[in-house]
Amino acid sequence: MTDKSTELKSAESPLASRASWLENYQPALRIHEQGTVVSVGDGIAWIAGLPSAAMDDILSFDDGSRAMVFDLSEKLIGAILLHETDDLTAGTTVHRSGRTLSVPAGDSLLGRVVDPLGVALDGIEPPERTTWQPLETGSPPIVARDFVNQPLYSGIKIIDSMIPIGKGQRQLLIGDEGLGRSSIAIDTVINQRGRNVYCVYVLIGQKRSTVVSTIDTLREFNALEYTTVVVAEAGSLPGLQHLAPFAGCAIAEFWMRQGRDVLVVYDDLSTHAKTYRELSLLLRRPPGREAYPGDIFSVHARLLERSTCLNASYGGGSMTALPIVETQQGEIAAFIPTNLISITDGQVYLDSDLFSAGFRPAIDIARSVSRIGGQAQHPRIKQEAGRMKLDYLQYLELEVFTRFGARLETSMETVIDRGRLLRELLKQDRLKPVQATFQLAWLIAFNDNRFADAKPEDIPPLLATLEDAVRESTLTLDSERELWSKAIVNWLPVPAEKGSA
Ligand SMILES: Nc1ncnc2c1ncn2[C@@H]1O[C@H](COP(=O)(O)OP(=O)(O)O)[C@@H](O)[C@H]1O
Ligand SMILES: [Mg+2]
Repeated sequence: MTDKSTELKSAESPLASRASWLENYQPALRIHEQGTVVSVGDGIAWIAGLPSAAMDDILSFDDGSRAMVFDLSEKLIGAILLHETDDLTAGTTVHRSGRTLSVPAGDSLLGRVVDPLGVALDGIEPPERTTWQPLETGSPPIVARDFVNQPLYSGIKIIDSMIPIGKGQRQLLIGDEGLGRSSIAIDTVINQRGRNVYCVYVLIGQKRSTVVSTIDTLREFNALEYTTVVVAEAGSLPGLQHLAPFAGCAIAEFWMRQGRDVLVVYDDLSTHAKTYRELSLLLRRPPGREAYPGDIFSVHARLLERSTCLNASYGGGSMTALPIVETQQGEIAAFIPTNLISITDGQVYLDSDLFSAGFRPAIDIARSVSRIGGQAQHPRIKQEAGRMKLDYLQYLELEVFTRFGARLETSMETVIDRGRLLRELLKQDRLKPVQATFQLAWLIAFNDNRFADAKPEDIPPLLATLEDAVRESTLTLDSERELWSKAIVNWLPVPAEKGSA
């Protein structure tokens, strides 16, 4: 109390207060650490001094730019630069800011394109700061987690029927470059329109043209309004590329903790791993397998463990993650792909042979799995898809023989015919996600043999007819199977020869 009143009084007469401050001044030792830049280049700086600096501390340079402590050794500190600057040279002084990195989060980020520090890249005013979210936090404890129990519809026929994704799941999109991994992620984001799921799309080390076309596609399909795009393109500082997925995760985490469902795409973590390798080698850490540093596994695990489904007492929010990883010539046993396969709850594998044979999305069912999504799948879809998947897997086994022109028994030929039909039914163009009710409808139609005898070229118009009819109809996923069957008989023309038998 007394302190406050003297403060108030002194505020009235500043001169008097200064005099009394001088009178009472006790000289004391105040420690103020100052470091010096020893060398700078390739997006990192080596710094001498600052004995109490800790990992992840933010340092500020005299030219106004900042860096993050990334490596501590006995004599020098290695820091990753967070700003492009030409003024930083050997000899520049450095101070500790006493803080770690955080990004702005909140609804003001919807529809925005930001860098990993939250700086607007879309040329509009900076996003209004609602709150700051730390880039690195611990993952939610076990007691806060719930089982995955709600489906997250990708709108892609193969995925929603055979490799279903649940809210809070981490599903890896894996395959060579150019086979449609990003297309699946973008379709899934577009399909969240009107479903009350916020999305975060993180672009790591991508060409500017890819960045621009991704954002344009999201905007064109009105998906940007519920999405935040976090970009660290190929030309940006390696430090920023490394931080991008953590920034995206932090933005998503804020919404998840508010009880929302969030979908986050990391496009892609191979590039992220390469950037991390580059930084680690520059910082002279010992290289391990494929020259990656030993802790790359823990870096990716730390990121993906933050995706989860929170239980009701923790708000019931969820963060679904779609990390993307690139393989070379389909080699999934390489270091980064195997790491990510073991961290995630399943993978969607894209195959180049399927892609070149014109089967798109080129998803190889035999090598794709969803370990937990089935629990969240709608029971009706699960039942119908189960029957269909058996047919498909049988076909895949026999298909090999047909390549050698072997003569097959009639029963086998039926399997092959059904499989070929399925191939046509499962084809789907990008940017054309479908409704869950239509998924159920085509599955029932297939299981009821409604497409038998249709030629491959008849399939797309038949599916289009069915899709329109489903959209007009009042049937839901919970409607009786019999009602669906009957409706489908009316909607689809009767198969030519065999009649409706
Ligand atoms: N379902 C699809 N139907 C037709 N073309 C597709 C489909 N999915 C992807 N593509 C095409 O494949 C190419 C590569 O897709 P992209 O998603 O960029 O691959 P990735 O991200 O794996 O490198 C693009 O030209 C895209 O138009
Ligand atoms: Mg891509």
